Amino acid sequence: MKRAFQEPSAPIRGKSLLMGSDITETGFLNMIEEEAEPIKQFFTYYKCAIMEVETKFRVLNEQFSLSGETNPIEFIQSRIKSYSSIIHKLSDRGVPVTLANMEENLSDIAGVRVVCSFMDDIYRLADCFLGQDDIVLIERKDYIQEPKPNGYRSLHLIIAVPIFLENEKRLTKVEVQLRTIAMDFWASLEHKLRYKKDLSPEKLEALRVDLKKCADESASWDRRMQEIRDYIEE
Ligand code: GTP
Ligand code: MG
Repeated sequence: MKRAFQEPSAPIRGKSLLMGSDITETGFLNMIEEEAEPIKQFFTYYKCAIMEVETKFRVLNEQFSLSGETNPIEFIQSRIKSYSSIIHKLSDRGVPVTLANMEENLSDIAGVRVVCSFMDDIYRLADCFLGQDDIVLIERKDYIQEPKPNGYRSLHLIIAVPIFLENEKRLTKVEVQLRTIAMDFWASLEHKLRYKKDLSPEKLEALRVDLKKCADESASWDRRMQEIRDYIEE
């Protein structure tokens, strides 16, 4: 028998988790004990959404390799945002920490990073992925065409993908980041610098300037490698 699916996303079960925005991490952990089931269910949606999105990219990767080309994807990394990052992000915005607010306000609880060798493959994969009729595009930010002032480059897509559970269908948001190996290498190093708290302001500024140069040089490498590949494949 065909099951009826609730659509669109049904409200999350369970009472409002916390009314104040000044929640501590311990407070949140205590709350998790009390509300373990709805929280588990909530994060399961995001885990499943990651599985769906990863599969879509793996399928595209296989399909591209069938047409005699090398696989465009080098690797895929996924993560669920940590409880503490979720709480800090909501608290910083003055939004009470509830499951409904998490779902409504955060688009990066589920994150999938797709790393390719060549820039063209990023756009080709993104176009094929977004062309699929169950993917809803919420936002597209092209930091490759318009890098951030610090030199950060990647293509960001906020999408929603339907998750089919036992008796419901839920549209779940995922942040997809597509980048080259060079962009990924740069972003990991720059990320490390953010957590380096024991540097003088002068040293920090010098490193930022150096990183910006590396970003520009690696962007130029990405373009040249693409040109060489295009030439070889012609
Ligand atoms: P967030 O509040 O950080 O999510 O910012 P946003 O909603 O404006 O999204 P944005 O597209 O700027 O960034 C989302 C994610 O991209 C971050 O969580 C990082 O993973 C990555 N990112 C964006 N900017 C940078 C950057 O300058 N350096 C590094 N290393 N990563 C970045
Ligand atoms: Mg974000």
